[in-house]
Amino acid sequence: MCGIIGYVGGRKAAPILLNGLKRLEYRGYDSAGLVTVNKTGARRYRVVGRVQNLDKLVKGLDLSMPCGIAHTRWATHGKPTEANAHPHTDDTQQFYVAHNGIIENHEKLRTQLEAEGVHFRTETDTEVIVQLIAKFFETNLETAVEDALKHLEGTFGIAAVSSADPMKIVAARRGSPVIIGVGKDEMFVASDVSALVQYTDQVIYMEDNELAVLTPGEYQMLSFDHKPIQRETLQIDWKVEDEGLKGFPHFMLKEIYDQPETVRNACRGRMIVSEGVSVLGGLQSKMEEIKNLRKLIIVSCGTSYHAGLIGRYIFENLTDLNIEVELASEFRYRRLRLDETTAVLAISQSGETIDTLAAIREARRKGALTIGLVNVVGSTIARETDCGVYCHAGPEIGVASTKIFVSQLVILNLMALLIGRYQSVSLNEGVAVIKALQNLPDQISDILAQASQLEELAKTYQKYPNCLFIGRQMHTAVALEGALKLKEISYIHAEGYAAGEMKHGPISLIDENFPTIALLSNDASYDKMINNIQEIRARSGPVFAITYTGDAQAEKVADDIFRVPETHELLQPILSVIPLQLFAYYCARFRGTEIDKPRNLAKSVTVE
Ligand code: F6R
Repeated sequence: MCGIIGYVGGRKAAPILLNGLKRLEYRGYDSAGLVTVNKTGARRYRVVGRVQNLDKLVKGLDLSMPCGIAHTRWATHGKPTEANAHPHTDDTQQFYVAHNGIIENHEKLRTQLEAEGVHFRTETDTEVIVQLIAKFFETNLETAVEDALKHLEGTFGIAAVSSADPMKIVAARRGSPVIIGVGKDEMFVASDVSALVQYTDQVIYMEDNELAVLTPGEYQMLSFDHKPIQRETLQIDWKVEDEGLKGFPHFMLKEIYDQPETVRNACRGRMIVSEGVSVLGGLQSKMEEIKNLRKLIIVSCGTSYHAGLIGRYIFENLTDLNIEVELASEFRYRRLRLDETTAVLAISQSGETIDTLAAIREARRKGALTIGLVNVVGSTIARETDCGVYCHAGPEIGVASTKIFVSQLVILNLMALLIGRYQSVSLNEGVAVIKALQNLPDQISDILAQASQLEELAKTYQKYPNCLFIGRQMHTAVALEGALKLKEISYIHAEGYAAGEMKHGPISLIDENFPTIALLSNDASYDKMINNIQEIRARSGPVFAITYTGDAQAEKVADDIFRVPETHELLQPILSVIPLQLFAYYCARFRGTEIDKPRNLAKSVTVE
């Protein structure tokens, strides 16, 4: 949450900062600001709302200074006002800081500083950082930052600049991501590689408790107690062209349409059909431990948690492991009994979600093997897990996750197959899953070709203020995901429920104004789902059923129907979720909401 970008080099900093902010905006869009500095002073501009407002504000101004930092905010402490927008400054207005994270002892520090005569101008926790830097400054910025950091409790990724020590950025990290971009005679700092890909493919992922001093020609990495750290640069493989809209009106729609390719990328080079096995290079180094596992605990948040819930069924069907699935934000506070026969699998698109990261750290402390299933290459969870698998799905820009969810489900099947083939899964069972995976991209394309049907249905259903999603077994999690997609982008109140729970409460909501989306699949739950639909219809509730091609009954009981192709039972959720993504998208479009950047949300949740 919150995006930071900084530049020092031979070019004008401001256009680079604005460009970077546009790419980081998905991390928060409550306010935006930038500051550029040289030895004569600083120029700072801040606005409430979007980066485009900042762009408008600075248009035509002379912004020629070659060093600066900028920030896009997801508010934690203090309202999204201009005064609370970063970068923040001190009383002398010589020091500037952009911060991502939460300073937990900021009240105490503020009281102490106020007693010393410091005047605070904002309600933010960040302001104490810059006031401390100003207090400790003697001759160089890095020493002042080091001294300030000694007093901070909580999490931070920061970038600091000063007109008293210009042509230098000092960055520091504890808990929130910070990445250095190394250019030719220029340096960058950002909270995410997406802000850097346009300028350099050479990056350094900072670790916790590290500080970086950036000047145009060089970078220096230090520990918080001033010991030099040697760190090689890494080459990143994302390209700027991966990030364009390619003619789609929204990233979310583009990413939904990316999904046939997403599945191909997740599977590429990872399956041997004749042997019914998968090959996952990222797990090879720990294969002996993985073969001897008895228990797998899946931890994740939001949409990635829903992937985990489906993963439970996948692992239960393809392996002999005991499986638990838990919200990372709950797991990390439990009294855990873990050992080397337990692995904890973290699922995360961003690889930066703070609760998932904390869960992994807790699991490691207790002796469990940790595995990552992550999209963003080089992200913190990818680096801190013992082994893992990447989605290789390219950047996901829409705040509502779509293609990565599908990619996660594909890879969960591959992971389970890898383990299961060392256990009791037969060759035939393995081959069946792989063949079904190979057919999946074309089946997804068939669904996408019928998008207009979903658009029509969305026109009707978006008028209702509420919506219930029901399913059974794996499709309970699909129902949760369908409800999450709808509520987060269209702001329609939506709930996902296990259909078997209807009679235990939710059915009392049903009347002619409360629609239900029912997920049917060709398995043991089918007849019970038909009963559930009939019970809802008997109470005048409108029902829209998502079912499989050969189903003959659903159209007799439901008001509306959408059919998806049939696949292997363990892959059916992938096909069922795609109409729900499109349905949510079209509902939001009819309601005129900001689809790619829903209110109050951010793509990367780096605060608890
Ligand atoms: C919803 C959504 C979120 C994320 C959640 C976890 O559409 O995208 O619920 O799934 O914030 O994020 P990651 O997967 O980055 O850990």
